[in-house]
Amino acid sequence: MFKTTSDFYSAMNRSCFTHLKSKGLSSVKKWLVLILFLVAVSLAAYYYTVQLEQSRKLAIIERPIIGNKERKARTTYAVPFIFRPITPSPFNVFFVETSCAFQSSVKPGFLQLSKRQACAIYSTAVLNPKHRIIIVHTCPLIKDYSQRWKEDWPELLSLGNVGVVEAKIPWLLSETPVASLLDGRLNRSAYPVEHTSDLVRFAVLYKYGGTYLDTDIISIRPLDDLGHNYIGAQEDKVLASGIMNINPTDVGHQFIEEALSALKFSFNGSVWAANGPQLITRQLRKFCKLDPKETFDKMGKLDCGLTVHPPNTFYPIPYWEWEEFFDETAWPRIKDQLNNTYILHFWNKLTKDSVIYVGSQQPYGIIAANYCSPIYYKNGDEF
Ligand SMILES: *[C@@H]1O[C@H](CO)[C@@H](O)[C@H](O)[C@H]1NC(C)=O
Ligand SMILES: *[C@@H]1O[C@H](CO)[C@@H](O)[C@H](O)[C@H]1NC(C)=O
Ligand SMILES: *[C@@H]1O[C@H](CO)[C@@H](O)[C@H](O)[C@H]1NC(C)=O
Repeated sequence: MFKTTSDFYSAMNRSCFTHLKSKGLSSVKKWLVLILFLVAVSLAAYYYTVQLEQSRKLAIIERPIIGNKERKARTTYAVPFIFRPITPSPFNVFFVETSCAFQSSVKPGFLQLSKRQACAIYSTAVLNPKHRIIIVHTCPLIKDYSQRWKEDWPELLSLGNVGVVEAKIPWLLSETPVASLLDGRLNRSAYPVEHTSDLVRFAVLYKYGGTYLDTDIISIRPLDDLGHNYIGAQEDKVLASGIMNINPTDVGHQFIEEALSALKFSFNGSVWAANGPQLITRQLRKFCKLDPKETFDKMGKLDCGLTVHPPNTFYPIPYWEWEEFFDETAWPRIKDQLNNTYILHFWNKLTKDSVIYVGSQQPYGIIAANYCSPIYYKNGDEF
């Protein structure tokens, strides 16, 4: 509406004076009103500056503090910053990086994010300013990673609600029903990274609650409208575990506890989807006493207290149509399918090697340009 504060101010001034003239007030009263108005504007400006300053302060990475012996004993990991320690809250939003799970020779490194991962985090943080976006990083990080991260991803840090927690897998799984899988079953899995990721996402939701998001997504609407204790259907008979919300204390917590207790016995290291989508689909049917014939495509809030969002909420383009995201002619078709979509999942396993050219009409790129433009246009001509 008003390009600058002074535009706004002069417009206000004009309307004040017109208003005063029509009332025929004395010039003393005119000045009094004007002064009051000026004071109000100054106060508002001051308040805004203070707020801005505070949000900046929050974004500054703190140096690790390890003074607490007890915590040191319980956790062998270096140290989280910004959100230290993680606390149970429905406003937690977790992104989990498990890419070096159980590799014995990983050297401590920097916090590595691809532009697509950074876009997932950025779009979610911008649309959900009240939420705490927590990147759970299980790879060892070098001591000064926070300084380097500040230089690499100022776009994320300046948002003020994004933080990193460096955490070892045994610590993440401790005090959960699946801690016993560390006896050798998890590290012998044929899919150690994927299965660790399955376990860690359920474990953080069980311990802290909040929302879990895969890193191959872009948020296009705020999480608030989605309610609590939900999961997304990927097809009419299959739930996916890439986007889930669990309250830290109520029925959602009970559900995740039952699912983890079942997983402790049913864990299967040789089947890729066994411990994520298959587990959660089976467990939800059981928990909510659904008829086996019942499909998920038009569900919603169930009597058991959990919500199943239909496929177009998070997975409007099914994985077998993933090429649509890269097809320059597909945008008009895709656009109309996003009316009720909150988060778009991009099937990284299938799409990671396909290139997006910055400025093209590829739908994945168009969505990124709209919801994470500073990341999309950063460094170079590919996204
Ligand atoms: C897997 O974990 C078990 C139990 O901690 C350990 O004894 C074993 O050496 C590990 N194996 C591999 C391949 O890391
Ligand atoms: C894992 O699942 C496969 C296929 O259903 C089955 O053949 C195998 O016995 C299972 N393994 C375990 C340890 O349950
Ligand atoms: C989505 O919304 C747009 C604009 O409101 C409308 O033109 C379009 O028909 C809608 N598409 C569907 C599939 O509902």
